[in-house]
Amino acid sequence: MSRKLTPFILLLLLAMLLAACGGTTDEPETTDTTDTAVDTTDTEEAMDEEMTEEEMAQMVEVFSWWTGGGEAAGLEAMIGVFAEKYPDIEFQNAAVAGGAGTNARAVLATRLQAGDAPDSWQGHAGQELIGTYVAADQLEPVNFLFEENGWLDVMPETLIPLISQDGNIYSVPVNIHRANVLWYNPTVLSENGVDVPTSLAEWFTAMDALQAAGMDAPLAMGEQWTAMHLFETVALASLGPDAYEALWDGSGDWGSAEVTAALNDFAKVLTYVNSDASALTWQDASQLVVNGDAAFNVMGDWAEGYFREIGFEPNTGYGWAPVPGTNGNFQFLSDSFVLPKGAPHRDAAIAWLTVAGSIEGQDAFNPVKGSIPARSDADRGLYGEYLLSAMDDWASDRVVGSLTHGVVANDAFKSEIDTALGLFLADGNIEGLQSALVAACSTSGPCQ
Ligand code: GAL
Repeated sequence: MSRKLTPFILLLLLAMLLAACGGTTDEPETTDTTDTAVDTTDTEEAMDEEMTEEEMAQMVEVFSWWTGGGEAAGLEAMIGVFAEKYPDIEFQNAAVAGGAGTNARAVLATRLQAGDAPDSWQGHAGQELIGTYVAADQLEPVNFLFEENGWLDVMPETLIPLISQDGNIYSVPVNIHRANVLWYNPTVLSENGVDVPTSLAEWFTAMDALQAAGMDAPLAMGEQWTAMHLFETVALASLGPDAYEALWDGSGDWGSAEVTAALNDFAKVLTYVNSDASALTWQDASQLVVNGDAAFNVMGDWAEGYFREIGFEPNTGYGWAPVPGTNGNFQFLSDSFVLPKGAPHRDAAIAWLTVAGSIEGQDAFNPVKGSIPARSDADRGLYGEYLLSAMDDWASDRVVGSLTHGVVANDAFKSEIDTALGLFLADGNIEGLQSALVAACSTSGPCQ
């Protein structure tokens, strides 16, 4: 949302006055910039036409997909820090709604193709960054920011290689999210005498018991990307971390009997899912759990930000555990912000990145967003019970990367997997899914 529209509003008022006096103007009509999913195009055109170069330098357009409960609030908290530190730079929130960036990334791709890059955008550490944006030569290295701000001393060693190529660092990580979280409704479990499952077998038994007690769909799921999210966590449970990681570095065999077993586990998990999944957002699916309409949901820990945002309390409203069978593993992803080549307002973009990497920015954003800070020097006192447990697990668990959220596969490979998954969700053909995955790895993955 625009924080400081004064010069722009004055210009618009002037334009409206001229129009009212019969003068002609090419100005677009006033754009409502208070919406969460803001289309800033008209606003920008007006600004580009009317603002002086000096005024233009005083804005920054930041692109993300954080428009919903918890996510938008976290972003707003960081924008608050930015506004305090850089009161003269107008913040343009170019967030596009849609979980996991499915819509936003399509809009971003179109803009990048048209040479209309925002000043900074949200990208995931890992292959999404390196195998997609860096591969397309769209980013400037930001080593200078790491050096000036001493970030190499406070950012996790695990993360630096995932945002670097040939000694160049290409983004500023703002958080660490955990993907393999099982959210559950404590009341539903205790009323049905069901313990929190710790293995896939226990999970199936628990869901059988809940179905026998009349809950048809004990596991809540949403639209297709949430099925991919579920798939990667079940694959980790079924394969274990070594074989899971081998799928992404070319040393594993997508056609193996172990992968067949993992796909069978995934197919079985899907038998417990609500039939209207494709019509639900991740928030809708998570909400089924806190409302008591489902017992379980597998979702990243942004769900915790959402639960708190809609008024639920940890332990009473919702409980959490590693996805059954993944205990001791932290399947992670990291949101980071980039500096595009040719950023329209490069200095302002650097100001934004400086806040995104700062302790103040991260400690304002993460407690609300439901993520732990990328920096290791956070003030633990600001974080709730779930996030403190995530911090401890991040420090002690085996860390593996997420597929759905950009760590282990670049866009081309991930998109082929997504297509295969979409077909499987429609036809349930496990053999077909496995051969499509084998083919995807050869065409665009590490088996090439
Ligand atoms: C992820 C992103 C998270 C959260 C989630 C749901 O891809 O990394 O920060 O926004 O999507 O939208």
